[in-house]
Amino acid sequence: MRPTPHGLEWQHWRVRAPERAPAWLEVFSAEERPQSWELAQTEGTFPDVWPEYNHHGDNAGAYFGELYPRFARYQALFVDGRSGALAARARTVPFEWDGTLDDLPHGIDAVGMRAISPVGAPTALSALAAEVAPSYRGLGLSGVVLQVMAAIAASTGLSPLVAPVRPSWKDRYPLVPIERYAAWVRQDGLPFDPWLRVHARLGGRVLRCEPRSMQVTASVRDWEAWTGMTFPEDGDYVFPGGLALLNISGGSGSYWEPNVWVQHDI
Ligand SMILES: CC(C)(COP(=O)(O)OP(=O)(O)OC[C@H]1O[C@@H](n2cnc3c(N)ncnc32)[C@H](O)[C@@H]1OP(=O)(O)O)[C@@H](O)C(=O)NCCC(=O)NCCS
Repeated sequence: MRPTPHGLEWQHWRVRAPERAPAWLEVFSAEERPQSWELAQTEGTFPDVWPEYNHHGDNAGAYFGELYPRFARYQALFVDGRSGALAARARTVPFEWDGTLDDLPHGIDAVGMRAISPVGAPTALSALAAEVAPSYRGLGLSGVVLQVMAAIAASTGLSPLVAPVRPSWKDRYPLVPIERYAAWVRQDGLPFDPWLRVHARLGGRVLRCEPRSMQVTASVRDWEAWTGMTFPEDGDYVFPGGLALLNISGGSGSYWEPNVWVQHDI
């Protein structure tokens, strides 16, 4: 991917947005704008971006919790140049990777844990989350977010950028294995899934599917509260927003979120 804007020190950028979006976006790092970052963490700034269960990963709190202040320079906020409203957020982590599939972490939990407990110096950048605020969706901003992630990687000497992609429409097909879903293409040859399509258009290539990327384990009571469902007996359940099945057994609910590793060469 050709990162944009090119060759600038990563601190504060102004980027041209797609035609349907605000005429320009200010892009700040969390290091530069700590107060805006804290504000973005509060509920209400990015409402309904994730289904509730997604906030309760067994390990996710450990690595998402380290992003600020430790990795502040790798986090980006996108501010509407006209209104000053937060339009999007990019969260990434640096990690050590030798570039082989053998050494590629097994999903988002694994890359997050490697990033916070490094053995050596980081060599690559992994996306953790691209979030567009609901009122800015459908304007083409997701590609800009991805390009800024690539530009962060380029300007910090970390290459390539990889992403454990959470396909947007996988929740519509929770019974389909992730390997099959990720392989679905439209007549034009681009991925069926809209978010995988954005990656593909920007030159991303699929490295591997991870059926077990992020683990969420909790009591049945918690799962019932998060999903608005009742789980009367042990078994596998389809649930709202779930990309795969939830297994209920012995009073506990266990879920593995699948992801698709995509690499962007910079
Ligand atoms: C996924 C997400 C980042 C996409 O951002 P976005 O700025 O709304 O997406 P874009 O406007 O750039 O559109 C990207 C593609 O999705 C499609 N799309 C966008 N909104 C859509 C909608 N409501 N319904 C159907 N398709 C939609 C677009 O048509 C486009 O596909 P195209 O190839 O046909 O043009 C955003 O929806 C989001 O923040 N989701 C929640 C968090 C998340 O899942 N992040 C990604 C995993 S880390």
